[in-house]
Amino acid sequence: MQLKDQVAIITGGGRGMGRADCLLLASEGAIVISCDKIGENAKAVAEEVRKAGGRAEAFDLDITKGADVKRVVQQVADRYKRIDILVNNAGFDAIKPFVETTEADWDFLIDLNLKGHLHVTHAVLPHMIAANHGKIVFISSDAGRVGSTGEAVYAAAKAGLLGFTKTLAREEARHNIRVNCICPGLTDTPQLQHNIQDPQIGKIILSVQKWIPLKRFGKAEEIANAVLFFVSDQSSFITGQVLSVSGGLTMV
Ligand SMILES: NC(=O)c1ccc[n+]([C@@H]2O[C@H](COP(=O)([O-])OP(=O)(O)OC[C@H]3O[C@@H](n4cnc5c(N)ncnc54)[C@H](O)[C@@H]3O)[C@@H](O)[C@H]2O)c1
Repeated sequence: MQLKDQVAIITGGGRGMGRADCLLLASEGAIVISCDKIGENAKAVAEEVRKAGGRAEAFDLDITKGADVKRVVQQVADRYKRIDILVNNAGFDAIKPFVETTEADWDFLIDLNLKGHLHVTHAVLPHMIAANHGKIVFISSDAGRVGSTGEAVYAAAKAGLLGFTKTLAREEARHNIRVNCICPGLTDTPQLQHNIQDPQIGKIILSVQKWIPLKRFGKAEEIANAVLFFVSDQSSFITGQVLSVSGGLTMV
């Protein structure tokens, strides 16, 4: 077991990639803390982990609410006396051309996809610094690296995570904390399925699939494999890096 007894907080842990992260990290011995703004989904995932023989706890947590984030992180630290791993995974996009978006859209997307991760990371870091040990992974998006039509503000927020990853990696290396970032391409999760239901957006997504060299969408479990790599000792000399997991769709 690569993560025996390590405590791992996973945001957006109630479904999709976050669920896959919870299941995989728990199977490697981690105690997973599944946090989701849909608390019942987080609970269901924690139950699934326990049924599989792992250890898990669930929290109803909206990462855009700074005070709630602080309270939950403190509760986890008080209970387990350690936080080894943070997977900043929660995220969402509403796809439409930038010219049709409103300031309310921008606030929503930036609060969730950028500022939400600042809240969680800011609350977790003091515990990692005190322990002189930690691993942080951000789930950004290839939209943030190479752009994606209809996702301008989401892409801007996700690109922000790349700069945040690299800067944190530099700042926290002295505390033995490694920080890395994963950029998924199109990955088959409830979010992707939701987007495919829209006739116009669905058409675009299905046409992009043809351009993926591996000719299929990714699986949530394949993103979780990359997360495991970054939070395990397999990547002990890797920090500040950005990895696309996209079936080869982007290669720059
Ligand atoms: N699926 C893709 O094709 C794809 C591609 C690139 C990047 N991503 C990114 O990967 C991550 C996971 O996406 P997914 O496809 O699994 O999505 P998903 O919608 O299936 O799951 C996301 C989870 O995050 C939770 N969440 C949303 N807002 C939250 C908040 N404010 N606080 C706490 N939890 C919240 C949701 O309730 C949900 O359980 C996201 O950051 C997404 O932007 C997804």
